[in-house]
Amino acid sequence: MSKLLVASGVKKSYLSGARHIRILNGVNLELDRSDAVAIVGASGVGKSTLLHLLGALDRPDDGRIALDGADYQGMNDATLADVRCRRVGFIYQFHHLLHEFSALENVMIPGIIFGGGGMNSPRTFFSYLLTILHPTAKGEIFSELRQRAEKILEDVGLGERMTHRPAKLSGGEQQRVALARALINDPDLVLADEPTGNLDLATGEKVLDMILEHTVGRGKAIVLVTHNPDIAARIGTIHQLKNGVLTRVSA
Ligand SMILES: Nc1ncnc2c1ncn2[C@@H]1O[C@H](COP(=O)(O)OP(=O)(O)O)[C@@H](O)[C@H]1O
Ligand SMILES: [Mg+2]
Repeated sequence: MSKLLVASGVKKSYLSGARHIRILNGVNLELDRSDAVAIVGASGVGKSTLLHLLGALDRPDDGRIALDGADYQGMNDATLADVRCRRVGFIYQFHHLLHEFSALENVMIPGIIFGGGGMNSPRTFFSYLLTILHPTAKGEIFSELRQRAEKILEDVGLGERMTHRPAKLSGGEQQRVALARALINDPDLVLADEPTGNLDLATGEKVLDMILEHTVGRGKAIVLVTHNPDIAARIGTIHQLKNGVLTRVSA
């Protein structure tokens, strides 16, 4: 079986004024299913840039990235969007939940974009939005997706919080909603960018345990960026990003 993720010789520069600043200068990384990798490195070194590339949110200047043997390079933007939506789940430091929507709705949204809830046209998307905006309109097309979202929220201990909006949830709970949202389309790879960076240590460790249980524990791979050495140590394999390259520093 091929590696789940292979990144080799990945380079990325940004234009700063008239100059190209090289951020990544030949990054290599390989992941199998159920692998967990922590990436550490100073602020501004390119950790988020790398995660965006691994998750097909952006394209490298050079090098290749392949998920399950399929090279991103040969894919058009629509196919890359599909990879992002179906195969990859993202968790961010500041969760990026939509404040006007409940926890349950936030978790369902990537499923709607996927089409897993029966939405396969802009028309059904708008009819879904209508069911949110007009709760009396009974939309059954998303019942399967809704059940799946409810199950995941229960799994992350938020069964009693599904109708709450993000502002009514604690930081740890918001991050658990973000985890549930990342899992809704059953991705193979989860990319987490400082997911505990905004939480106190005890809450951060609980959220991390939950993230690992639902990723590595279920055959998914995870790449997790963190500043925190204690968090990195719990992941096992640690890579440091420095001077544009990734070096394994543990396990
Ligand atoms: N879209 C962009 N355009 C220009 N410069 C960027 C862009 N994104 C990031 N950078 C720069 O690239 C460097 C790496 O950023 P980032 O990947 O966010 O670092 P980290 O996540 O390690 O803190 C920083 O100097 C940042 O300012
Ligand atoms: Mg960052």
